[in-house]
Amino acid sequence: MSDSSHYTSMNSPKYRLFVCTKQRDANDAEGCCHNCGALEIYQAFQEEISQRQLENQVEIRRSGCLDHCEAGAVAMISQPKPHEVSWLPTKIQKKIASNKHYYGRLKRADIAELVESHFVNGQPLKRCLL
Ligand code: FES
Repeated sequence: MSDSSHYTSMNSPKYRLFVCTKQRDANDAEGCCHNCGALEIYQAFQEEISQRQLENQVEIRRSGCLDHCEAGAVAMISQPKPHEVSWLPTKIQKKIASNKHYYGRLKRADIAELVESHFVNGQPLKRCLL
């Protein structure tokens, strides 16, 4: 019996989740996700993913600016192809990542619904998409 699909799914996550935690000065006109509660959002994602035992399907990491600073807190979810490596810097991942969805103005209260919708049901959560 070939077990290659099982092997692949065990070793490469189905989704990559980047949570922007970029910090700028409070008086910087560009704004930043850090000042919009990004660390709490990152932690909430970690908790939800862990509670639902999705760690093998979702690789989560903090990232630098995702170029939607006016809409913090921002997260980007991609579905990597098997050959896409995960160790590249965010700015390169942003360019090459497959099937990207950007979420913005995220609040702690959105995260459970977003995880359920995007990662469990495979449906992007429209009301939070940018
Ligand atoms: S600082 Fe988060 S998108 Fe730019």
